[in-house]
Amino acid sequence: MKREHTQQNPVNQPGSPALEVLHLSKHFELGETSTLVLDDITFCAGAGELVCIIGCSGCGKTTLLNILAGFIPPGSGSVKMDGNPIERPGPERCVVFQEDALFPWLSVRENIAFGLKRRMKKKLLDLEVERFLALVGLNEFRDHLPCEISGGMKQRVALARVLILKPQVLLMDEPFVSLDYHLRKEMQNLLVSLWKELGQTIIFVTHDIDEAITLADRIIVMDIAPGRINQEFNVGLPRPRSEEQTGYIFFRKKLLSSYGALSFNPDQTTIRDNPQEVWGGNPVSKHCSSSKASGRMHNPEIICQLFDNQDKAIGRKRYPES
Ligand SMILES: Nc1ncnc2c1ncn2[C@@H]1O[C@H](COP(=O)(O)OP(=O)(O)OP(=O)(O)O)[C@@H](O)[C@H]1O
Ligand SMILES: [Mg+2]
Repeated sequence: MKREHTQQNPVNQPGSPALEVLHLSKHFELGETSTLVLDDITFCAGAGELVCIIGCSGCGKTTLLNILAGFIPPGSGSVKMDGNPIERPGPERCVVFQEDALFPWLSVRENIAFGLKRRMKKKLLDLEVERFLALVGLNEFRDHLPCEISGGMKQRVALARVLILKPQVLLMDEPFVSLDYHLRKEMQNLLVSLWKELGQTIIFVTHDIDEAITLADRIIVMDIAPGRINQEFNVGLPRPRSEEQTGYIFFRKKLLSSYGALSFNPDQTTIRDNPQEVWGGNPVSKHCSSSKASGRMHNPEIICQLFDNQDKAIGRKRYPES
């Protein structure tokens, strides 16, 4: 049965987070130097929620996803799924990377079937593969090798290959970053429709503010050096979203201007203090908000870098709006 994803998913109910990160800190040791990469990260994602994490290069987004995936251990603090500590990778949490990482010698169909080959009878598996081929629109290309299909198609195979495993949580690390603008939009729409159909909890990392606004129920903005959660807010726009919609333009403008305001005025009222007033959106659930308040001085260069990446991604000139 299809899950009903209304504007606000049935998430963030106190006591029911799918993923829960509490006071997570992580150091990396290089020789004799120990670097704090993540500092006191606290947030949660409710079941079926689509959370985007944005932040500039090096702020620790991939490190955070790797910890959620169980690839690397947390330093201090706790990381839980359905109340159980995440200590290793598990089939309930799947990762989609920037690179498609397909098996080049297997066809599209075989790549999608790969993870279930030993777990499902052939007849059932064939049916399941058919379903996912159709969901990602690759019926015609089922027998092609990865080298015979486009980059966008490869990412669709990568998505289908993971979704067929029915993970509860999908961890996505800039999966569409190498695609051109149109393909990227197409993949974003596809992701939202698959998410509506299948209902996973998704943590989606991106540099692209528009990608985050298009996709997310909630956006978490990270700071760098060390990586911290600076802001967190609900998007609250109806779907499907488009950059032309008044609400979208208003929201984006608010997002950009609030970045600017925060970057130069540390005394500015923070989003966490008064999200409704600043964003005109829904306040972030207290249950899920980060313990580290914002309001610290941002580095304007870092903010410019974030905007540059964003504008490059969509081929727009810098600072179109004041
Ligand atoms: N295994 C490691 N050993 C030491 N330092 C690491 C390791 N992995 C990451 N780092 C450092 O941790 C910091 C955060 O890296 P991370 O890859 O998580 O950033 P990111 O936000 O994903 O960046 P990008 O947007 O460029 O992908 C960087 O300074 C990086 O050099
Ligand atoms: Mg990264």
